[in-house]
Amino acid sequence: MLIDSFSAPQRAVFDELIAERAKRVPLQHLIGTVAFGPIDIAVGPGVFVPRPETELLVAWALDRPLPPSPVAVDFCSGTGAIALAVAHARPDARVYAVELDPDALAWLRRNASLRIGAGDTPIEVIAGDVTDPAVTAALDGRVDLLLCNPPYVPEGTPVPAEVADHDPADAVFGGPDGLTVIRPVVVRAAALLGTGGWVGIEHDEAHGHAVADLFADAGGFTEIEVHPDLAGRPRFTTARRV
Ligand SMILES: C[S@@+](CC[C@H](N)C(=O)[O-])C[C@H]1O[C@@H](n2cnc3c(N)ncnc32)[C@H](O)[C@@H]1O
Repeated sequence: MLIDSFSAPQRAVFDELIAERAKRVPLQHLIGTVAFGPIDIAVGPGVFVPRPETELLVAWALDRPLPPSPVAVDFCSGTGAIALAVAHARPDARVYAVELDPDALAWLRRNASLRIGAGDTPIEVIAGDVTDPAVTAALDGRVDLLLCNPPYVPEGTPVPAEVADHDPADAVFGGPDGLTVIRPVVVRAAALLGTGGWVGIEHDEAHGHAVADLFADAGGFTEIEVHPDLAGRPRFTTARRV
């Protein structure tokens, strides 16, 4: 026999959560956190919910033969999921997280302080536009690892209600072809990375080899590789600075 062990107030809260979810409010907003690899990240209105496919980008990065005490940069950091996952896995790293949007920055700073509470190495938050060379000029030539999950969905692409109504549009859509942020990020990667440094950029499945072509056209990169997501679709491209 099933026993309903909810108290009446608990049942009311549960019913309210179910009603919100039925209205397509993301589960992660209702719970208030999302698991990203081994760490929990706080999320809610005003910031992009980290996705499982981005864990593949981080796993690739952590598998690189990085030098001791590497300098790592997370461009378009949102909640800080990528930066914090790298800092968690590599306590010796100096990790910078760059984000433009004030609402996202508030979540990023909150997550950064929560991870300090969890014993992780602090990350450094930089408020600014990743496409503006002045914002990260101080790191030029010093970066061992640059990761970026930018807004990349081509404008006009239909997206589910959870995304359309709850992820900030500037976090999702990357201009007419989805490459508006990625193009200048490739240019910044060439300036930021030291010799042998690695870069990985997540992108839309529709981009196929487009980001690999940007790296090839920019020059100064080797080991350019397009990686599939768990469904076998091309979803992030990586390269190494020569
Ligand atoms: C797809 S979300 C990714 C967030 C996070 N990296 C993740 O993987 O969950 C893209 C983020 O880039 C930020 N963004 C968009 N354009 C930017 C720019 N030019 N400079 C800095 N951040 C930007 C958005 O505010 C958003 O937080």
